[in-house]
Amino acid sequence: MIHKFDAIVVGAGGAGLRCALELSQHNFNVAVLSKLYPVRSHTGAAQGGIGAALGNEEPDSPEWHFFDTVKGSDYLGDQDVIQVMCEEAIEAVLELEHFGLPFDRTADGKIAQRQFGGHTRNFGEGPIKRAAYAADRTGHMILHTLFEQCTKHKVRFFNEFYALDLLIDGDTCRGVVAYELATGEVHVFQARTTFLGTGGYGRAFSITSNALAYTGDGMAICLRRGLPLEDMEFVQFHPTGLRKLGILVSEAARGEGGILRNREDLDNVGSGKDGFMAAVAPTVKDLAPRDMVSRAMYNEIIAGRGMEGTRDTGSDYLVLDLVHLGEKVINEKLPDISHFARKYLAVEPITEPIPVQPTAHYAMGGVPTDVDGRVQLNAKLQAVNGLYAAGEVACASVHGANRLGTNSLVDIVVFGRRAGKSMTQYLQDSEFGRISGEPDGFVLGEIDRLKNGSGKEKVAELRRAMQKTMMAGVGVYRTKQTITESRDTVMELRRRYQEVAISDQSNFFNTELVEALELGFLLDVAWMIAESALNRTESRGAHSREDFKERDDKNWLKHTFITLAGDEKVEFDYKPVVITKFQPKPRVY
Ligand code: FUM
Repeated sequence: MIHKFDAIVVGAGGAGLRCALELSQHNFNVAVLSKLYPVRSHTGAAQGGIGAALGNEEPDSPEWHFFDTVKGSDYLGDQDVIQVMCEEAIEAVLELEHFGLPFDRTADGKIAQRQFGGHTRNFGEGPIKRAAYAADRTGHMILHTLFEQCTKHKVRFFNEFYALDLLIDGDTCRGVVAYELATGEVHVFQARTTFLGTGGYGRAFSITSNALAYTGDGMAICLRRGLPLEDMEFVQFHPTGLRKLGILVSEAARGEGGILRNREDLDNVGSGKDGFMAAVAPTVKDLAPRDMVSRAMYNEIIAGRGMEGTRDTGSDYLVLDLVHLGEKVINEKLPDISHFARKYLAVEPITEPIPVQPTAHYAMGGVPTDVDGRVQLNAKLQAVNGLYAAGEVACASVHGANRLGTNSLVDIVVFGRRAGKSMTQYLQDSEFGRISGEPDGFVLGEIDRLKNGSGKEKVAELRRAMQKTMMAGVGVYRTKQTITESRDTVMELRRRYQEVAISDQSNFFNTELVEALELGFLLDVAWMIAESALNRTESRGAHSREDFKERDDKNWLKHTFITLAGDEKVEFDYKPVVITKFQPKPRVY
């Protein structure tokens, strides 16, 4: 079946919905394709807040936010784009308020704000309250608010449509090919302009805060169509995932005063006394950026101060102590994470510390874009006509080597909106163009192979092996040896993937097929992460090489662009970092 729309938005998280809203307000014929029912998108899992220098609780300025984001990125973020994000964050948050988002309030009725990791006053003097929040459900509220607005503006939704391929004609994108879960039909969506807001790839790792649907789809689709991916070596591990499960325990818990403790510090639970982070980051302590906190946690574990011995036991963890915050703060400001601790670990956070461990959380890298969401064809800043992206699938690059908490929600609304505006401009004088050949040929072939192949490989087995090797070799700490082992394992799994065959032949909600398709995307993305991590011989932000411990600005103050150069070969290119204001310095907190 062929559909024609002015604009197709793939993904119904915050970036996609904000982009679709912009387009619909300009009366364009826009359709959103979503693998899930829209309000189940992963934006709903973002908990603690959205950063903006509103100054509602104490004086703040977009310039401080700009500085913190640059420093947090370990100076790899492009400063021209970061500045735009931090300045536009204020308007974007106020706009959400006007759309009806139920933010928590200060005593005088303004949007309430709380502290978050790496956000400081006056260029690093101490933590600042910058994260606007709705309890610990901020992403959930953003998602629902934007969905309401899209519904009001009559955006057309194709729910449970899984985009599997891009229609690329030379340097122009002409739409997407998607699989309809309810019928098994393959649809061609022809569009004058296309937006990708498909999120990240956390499911490549065994411990992750990411939804099951986070399988790197948009990144892999672009890669397979010859487009580059940028800065794939930078994978964020959020310090506090629920032990063994990885489910997010918001940084807001530390923003409200929570303290990480090791085995030797358990007598201090409930006392409010400093934990081990006070020695690592004396000014901001437990509110250091995530890369530093996750490393510090591993260091505690390696030193034998984890709750169960050393890293090698594979079951180590630390604890997050909220006890001193008291019942009222815990129940009113952190209701969801308290519920998760009770429900999944049978731990009562009002009286007991919560077992936590670093969890794969966020992709700093992705599909390269400019400040208006235009997808880049190469490191020379040439754009793909008609193709846009924003949010976690994209690399703008505002997060550099390490994203600050709250800046993902800023990213989706600021750049979702900017992409929407830019797409409306593009639509002024663009045409549909012709689609030649069999646009759905690749997708139909892949589905046929998976459903009717004679191979014996099983999706669950390959996926488990991929997640295990990525966690072990390309996690918080990496070396040439660990990354190489993981890269080789992933490549072997890619070969075995060609022999995957599924048993469910039906067309009605064939989730076995969907999982097989997702695994194909994940394997490609995992391979790109490992190759990029091997290639960057320095430590910067979330990329911590134990064999190259120092940041190397002389050789590596640049973005990595990786492209496929054959079935099993990749090529690298580089783009300089844009530095407008803040020269790289050692990161001390
Ligand atoms: O910790 C959190 O609430 C997560 C927020 C984020 O990733 O920005």
